[in-house]
Amino acid sequence: MKTQVAIIGAGPAGLLLGHLLKAEGVDCVVIERQTPDYVLGRIRAGVLEQITVDLMARLGLDERLRAEGLVEEGFNLADGERLIRIDVANLTGQTVVVYGQTEITKDLMDAAPARGLPVIYGAEDVAVFDIETDAPYVTYTLDGAPQRIDARFIAGCDGFHGPSRKAIPASVAREYERVYPFGWLGILADVPPCNHELIYANHQRGFALASMRSHTRSRYYIDVPLTEKIEDWSDDRIWDELAIRLGPDAAANMTRGPSIEKSIAPLRSYVFEPMRHGSLLLCGDAAHIVPPTGAKGLNLAASDVHYAAHALTHYFKRADNDAIAGYSAKALARVWKSERFSWTLTKLMHRFPDDGPFERAMQVAELDYIASSTAAQMSIAENYVGLPV
Ligand code: FAD
Ligand code: DHB
Repeated sequence: MKTQVAIIGAGPAGLLLGHLLKAEGVDCVVIERQTPDYVLGRIRAGVLEQITVDLMARLGLDERLRAEGLVEEGFNLADGERLIRIDVANLTGQTVVVYGQTEITKDLMDAAPARGLPVIYGAEDVAVFDIETDAPYVTYTLDGAPQRIDARFIAGCDGFHGPSRKAIPASVAREYERVYPFGWLGILADVPPCNHELIYANHQRGFALASMRSHTRSRYYIDVPLTEKIEDWSDDRIWDELAIRLGPDAAANMTRGPSIEKSIAPLRSYVFEPMRHGSLLLCGDAAHIVPPTGAKGLNLAASDVHYAAHALTHYFKRADNDAIAGYSAKALARVWKSERFSWTLTKLMHRFPDDGPFERAMQVAELDYIASSTAAQMSIAENYVGLPV
């Protein structure tokens, strides 16, 4: 098979890129290892920046998002007794939208056949070759039969563990990494949220986040040491811990119910440079990971895809190579700012095992400053809604 862009991975990055390229008349194929059900079963991000909403609108695939997404005008930082509201809408004139990653993925997946976007699921042993030439290709196995796709470019949208990033030679690569000493234990339950806006809490027992997917479905997180096993966390134990960490007001409004999903996700900050080598462009988690505090992961994947789609479209429609050449620097400039914000918010809202009284005093001072300063709130708000692309 021959195509212009072979896209590896049918997560949000790969599907968004596929649709954007198709909409511009660029030929592409998406190759995914898992089944559609498996991809949709992964419960991940929940808060969309304007860039992500805008891309769905540009594709005309935002009907359900507009109907079902919850527009959030602010969010809260809780610290002991105090609740600091960041009035995102008034500070920035923008909002974020609560709409699950699974819903975005489903919308993109469902629209693929009608838009002529081929998505090959169940592709095993995906490998990329000749990325330093103008004729790279992808091989994989489908139902036991070897397959090959020749392309002009390969887009590596295959997440943190995919093969694309590993195809870039170590001699040209630079990795930056920070691993955190805790993970987020998440619970999804069909109960109404305890608050109409998100609450990020820094309690002496640890971090907690009250989030949601709809008026009837809640998503909560607590941080736990990486040594914890999910089997040791009954639903009751999670609800009890949430009630303590989120504080009495949130606890009073919290409806408990059976979990429909619970899992522990490790936290990591990671950046791989460059995001393009030869004919291979990396997008999303394939190139970078942020800790989830601040909900940047999915949105960063969307901004990468925005730049990548622009670069690839210019190449094919205007024979212009400059945007391809500039892709890595352009994407990384925004990636690093989101890395900074996610790291800062993680440091502010979590109790690190090695932290002493000084580090705690710094957190309290920072939260005091945020509570009293419109400038500080503005800085948080503009990062939360997403920096310009
Ligand atoms: P992915 O969603 O990882 O998609 C990559 C795709 O590539 C997958 O479908 C995968 O199956 C496929 N793939 C992998 N290997 C291969 C291969 N060899 N061949 C073919 N296909 C392959 N962000 C937030 O903002 N908030 C959150 O609460 C949050 N929670 C998260 C929880 C977990 C457990 C994880 C892992 C991430 C979480 N994130 C969260 C981050 C966010 O979900 C990601 O940033 C987002 O999914 C990135 O999209 P992506 O398309 O780049 O990567
Ligand atoms: C959610 C996840 C986040 O990481 C975050 O900062 C806010 C919300 C969520 O899954 O709802």
